[in-house]
Amino acid sequence: MADFGGARKWARKIIEENLFPGAKAIDATMGNGYDTVWMAEAVGETGRVYAFDVQALALERTREKLMETGLDTRAELFLMGHENMALAVKCEIDAIVFNLGWLPGADKEKRTKPDTTLSAVNQALELLKPGGVLTICVYPGHDEGKREKETLVSWAEALDDGVFDAVIFRYANIKKLPPLLIAVTKRAK
Ligand SMILES: C[S@@+](CC[C@H](N)C(=O)[O-])C[C@H]1O[C@@H](n2cnc3c(N)ncnc32)[C@H](O)[C@@H]1O
Repeated sequence: MADFGGARKWARKIIEENLFPGAKAIDATMGNGYDTVWMAEAVGETGRVYAFDVQALALERTREKLMETGLDTRAELFLMGHENMALAVKCEIDAIVFNLGWLPGADKEKRTKPDTTLSAVNQALELLKPGGVLTICVYPGHDEGKREKETLVSWAEALDDGVFDAVIFRYANIKKLPPLLIAVTKRAK
C-alpha cells in the first residue's frame, strides 16, 4: 500500500532537494534539534544552519545532538524568537524550515503564535535567495494552531505570483485535521 507520509516528510523532501554542500539554512523552530541536525548534515562542512528557539531547553537538546554527531561547528543556535531572525542573520538563505507548535514534553504555552509567526515568515521571505525555498508545517488540531493555519493559508494565497510560487499540501479526507504543509519558493531571476 502506498504511504503518503505527512507534512514533516513532505517538508524534508522539498528542503533536501534545495540543500547542497556550502548552502545556508535556517531552522526557525529548533525544538529537539532533529531538523537542525539533518540540515547540518546536508549543508556539509562549508555550509551553515542558523537555528532559533525561545526555550533554553531546546538549545540544550539541539546542542547535545550536534555534539553527538560531530556537526556542532556547522550550526549557530540563537535563544531568540524567529520574529527577530532578520536581526541575527545577515546573508541570503537557501532553505528555511518552520515546524510550528510546542516543544514535546515541555510547556505548551511556549508554542508558536499567529502574530509572531506571520512576522517571521515575512522576514524569511526577505532572507530567501532567489531559487530558495521555505516550508511551514502547521498543526490545526488545536485552537491556536487553527488560527495559525488560517493566518498562514491567507498569507500564502496573497503572495505576489510574480515573485513567489506557493503550494499547500494537505490530506483531502482525514477528519481529525492532520498537519498541513505550506511551501514557498522565491523565483530565480
Ligand atoms: C514542534 S517544535 C519544533 C521541532 C523541531 N523542528 C525538531 O526538529 O525537533 C516547535 C518549537 O517552536 C518553538 N517556538 C515557539 N515560539 C517560537 C518563536 N517565537 N520563535 C522560535 N521558536 C519558537 C517552541 O519552543 C518549540 O521548541
